Amino acid sequence: MINTEEINGKIKRVIFTEEEIKAKTAEAGKWVSREYKDKPLLLISILNGAFVFMADFCRQITIPCEVAFMCAKSYYSGTVSTGEVSITMDVSQDLSRYHVIIVEDIIDTGRTLHDVVEKLKERNPLSLKVITLLDKPSRRLVKFEADMSLFTIPDLFVIGYGLDCDEYYRNLPYIAEYDEEKQ
Ligand code: IMP
Ligand code: MG
Repeated sequence: MINTEEINGKIKRVIFTEEEIKAKTAEAGKWVSREYKDKPLLLISILNGAFVFMADFCRQITIPCEVAFMCAKSYYSGTVSTGEVSITMDVSQDLSRYHVIIVEDIIDTGRTLHDVVEKLKERNPLSLKVITLLDKPSRRLVKFEADMSLFTIPDLFVIGYGLDCDEYYRNLPYIAEYDEEKQ
């Protein structure tokens, strides 16, 4: 059980408020609704981190779409991908029938998405794009760029709005910098 005092003690500062996130999410939703009009659209998010963003983002999309979730783990030897991404929970749709958008919470080293994208491309989606809520480009270990990032941040550890530290804080409605020094 976490209590409010404990949560507040770990927040250095709020980086993006609920209102700021909502405004950016609405813009992204409008873009998708325009670009994918009359196309079979499938949103796939990678659990657990992206569940909050996915829930809000899909409700800003005004065209028909399907949503699906997957879990994935990437295997690396040092900074080099072994090419092995293990999908521990998969989507059931036949991707060759869809324009796919991967909805992610944050891109850090780039490893997870790099491998997931390669794996999903093998299933021949009609098209494949990546939309991420947050991007930390200075942390990249493998070359990877999202098609759209709502916010670019420096090398900070952030929590809230789906993002965790040891599985806690996902339920905060805003994005905050985690205070690693406070006990
Ligand atoms: P990567 O891009 O493969 O390094 O992995 C990205 C994953 O690491 C994200 O999906 C998050 O689960 C986690 N992650 C990276 N940076 C943060 C952060 O600042 N806060 C919380 N989780 C993070
Ligand atoms: Mg994640």
